[in-house]
Amino acid sequence: MTNKARVISIINWKGGVGKTTFTHHIATGLQHLEPGILEKHFNKRTPPKVLVIDMDAQCNLSVSCLMEDKFEQFIREGKEQNKGIKCLFKQFLYNNPAEAIKPADYILKHQVRKNNQQVYENIDLIPSHPDLIYTDMEIAAYTRTDFDKHLVGSDIYKFQMLNKIINNFRNNYDLILIDCPPNLNFLTQNALYASDYYLIPTILDTLSSYGLMSIKNKVTELNNTFYSKDSNYIKTKLLGIITNSIIETKGQPKNTQMLVLNKIQSAFPNLVFDSYLTQGDGISKASAHAYPVFAFEKSSKNAAKQSEHIRKIITESLDRMKGANGT
Ligand SMILES: Nc1ncnc2c1ncn2[C@@H]1O[C@H](COP(=O)(O)OP(=O)(O)O)[C@@H](O)[C@H]1O
Ligand SMILES: [Mg+2]
Repeated sequence: MTNKARVISIINWKGGVGKTTFTHHIATGLQHLEPGILEKHFNKRTPPKVLVIDMDAQCNLSVSCLMEDKFEQFIREGKEQNKGIKCLFKQFLYNNPAEAIKPADYILKHQVRKNNQQVYENIDLIPSHPDLIYTDMEIAAYTRTDFDKHLVGSDIYKFQMLNKIINNFRNNYDLILIDCPPNLNFLTQNALYASDYYLIPTILDTLSSYGLMSIKNKVTELNNTFYSKDSNYIKTKLLGIITNSIIETKGQPKNTQMLVLNKIQSAFPNLVFDSYLTQGDGISKASAHAYPVFAFEKSSKNAAKQSEHIRKIITESLDRMKGANGT
């Protein structure tokens, strides 16, 4: 395969806004798109090859993809010795230089659940681990004398690790999605460094929308720092802000949400997605089984509605990557 994956980080320093839900549903929703749309964006009529990376120590994406029992087993049986993002960082920090890492050892293939009987053949997962919580500190504390030989500059390497890791398998995928923790610490900064784009999910209440401008400003600051240390660095672009948990009246967000939406639309011209995700029990029902909502779209009206919204969000994301907003 000769693709070069586009890499997207899903970030917000608030929890509970839908980072994990969007990561899971964008990856899986891409497997449920019309062939015509796939052809337009991926030059093929078959579903794109997607890698999802769970960078949050809460492990919600790993559990959503695999189901709790299987993920617990994965942790219990010590398979974490050679799998998952925590071990990748560990290898990179303490053992091999990135070039020596065999990425296949860390990636779970063909295990993301589609329904009770099936898995998604075209989605791979790098799972998280509860101990990933310590990785930020390890990165902060780490110094390595030979780093400058492998990486640019003397202090920038702490942000380049994930990029180096991903470079080992960037060509194997069409898209790589990174579910980030609810902060902008080292792991998230590594994700931003490695990404072409970032997406900010939000819910439409006053306090949730309050932090959006600070996130954008912080990422701009990081981009400038990274660029000042490495002139080959390509700045990570804001693909957009996606609103979640919308309650519709007459086909549009209810009044109180509309007021907040109007406010963020004027603060972020052209950056707020037209499409949005409605609140509904389709997603909650599906998540209890560790499926995406598409598993229920034929049997539940609410799931069908949310599935349709997700498809619109994905199409808009793909259009934005092609068009002026994302490039
Ligand atoms: N549109 C929605 N409708 C119903 N439940 C949702 C919706 N979006 C997210 N949820 C639920 O809300 C909770 C928080 O979402 P999550 O994606 O885990 O947020 P984050 O990753 O930002 O912390 C999860 O239990 C998730 O299933
Ligand atoms: Mg999450």
